[in-house]
Amino acid sequence: MTELLKITDDNIKLCAEEIKRGGLVAFPTETVYGLGADGLNAEAVKKIYEAKGRQSDNPLILHIASREMIEPLAYYESKYDDLLDAFWPGPMTIILKKKEIVPSVITAGLDSVAIRMPSSDVARKLIEYAGTPIAAPSANISGYPSPTCAEHVYKDLHGKLNYILDGEMSEVGIESTVIDLSRDKVRILRPGKISLEDLQKILPESEYDEAITDDKEVKKPISPGQKYTHYKPNAKVVIIMGEGEELINKMKAEYEVNLDKKPVIFTLKEYEDEFKNFNTMHLGSIKEPISISHNIFNLLRTADDKGFGYIILQGYERKGIFMAIMNRIIKSSGHNIKY
Ligand code: TXA
Ligand code: MG
Repeated sequence: MTELLKITDDNIKLCAEEIKRGGLVAFPTETVYGLGADGLNAEAVKKIYEAKGRQSDNPLILHIASREMIEPLAYYESKYDDLLDAFWPGPMTIILKKKEIVPSVITAGLDSVAIRMPSSDVARKLIEYAGTPIAAPSANISGYPSPTCAEHVYKDLHGKLNYILDGEMSEVGIESTVIDLSRDKVRILRPGKISLEDLQKILPESEYDEAITDDKEVKKPISPGQKYTHYKPNAKVVIIMGEGEELINKMKAEYEVNLDKKPVIFTLKEYEDEFKNFNTMHLGSIKEPISISHNIFNLLRTADDKGFGYIILQGYERKGIFMAIMNRIIKSSGHNIKY
């Protein structure tokens, strides 16, 4: 039996006990919901891989509640203090050289470990009460869009854990920016709300890892997660590139030739009037990019629930947070982009 628990101090404590006992708990964060286990208990962490059907060579993030928690886990240099001051707690994960105590099941045998301090109060309280770093990937079945509310987690994983903390819908809606600090150069391994432009204000020399900027699938990425199928709904997804009138016409044409597949267009507020006679779902506003990241995974899931078979999305110029949005939607489409 899987229980959905309201957010109360007692319920967070109940979940912390479950973690200490070696069980799994799903919890809200500002990015997506996580599926957590005691990060220092290898047996508990193995349950995460089983529940998600996750490949064992894809390492996990350790979630912490304070900076003091880094010291026993990894080698950290104070030259990165400004980076942590700027973006922690928040949607940023850092990769550091690991210390002995971190079980290899977390790092999938790598000599580095991923660490994040979430801004979600519920997440940080859970970690604090459990008194241990919490290992947590997104709480979805591997390959399906990440969960941004408790209901998504329940649909994917009920029966595989005892408790889901039922908090707010995740504000950012896409996973944290993963930044590698363990090598010669500072690199973004996975784009997120914190963009390269944001990062360069603090560390001007930083760059994207080529696994992100290259549209093709990279064979041996630094971040193993980059090589797997991700974020795929059951419906087929297509991304249409273009601008203005031309873009709208291309999206309409794509819809018309795929009527047999039950198409739906994810629209922006700015273009809503253009698509009055089409099946649409409202994605957000271009003027408020966070609305798009906030809604995207929820909409991909909802389109499946409503029985749509063909999802038509517009593409964006890859700047700021749109780099991350493009990264997710390109994967959800299986690299199905039309220019
Ligand atoms: O926002 C998030 O980061 C969410 C919430 C729950 O915190 N978590 C999340 O975890 O997205 P997951 O497991 O879905 O993604 C972890 C990513 C993967 O792409 C993995 O390959 C990468 O981090 N990663 C983990 N450890 C690594 C390491 N030592 N070196 C390189 N990449 C690593
Ligand atoms: Mg994930």
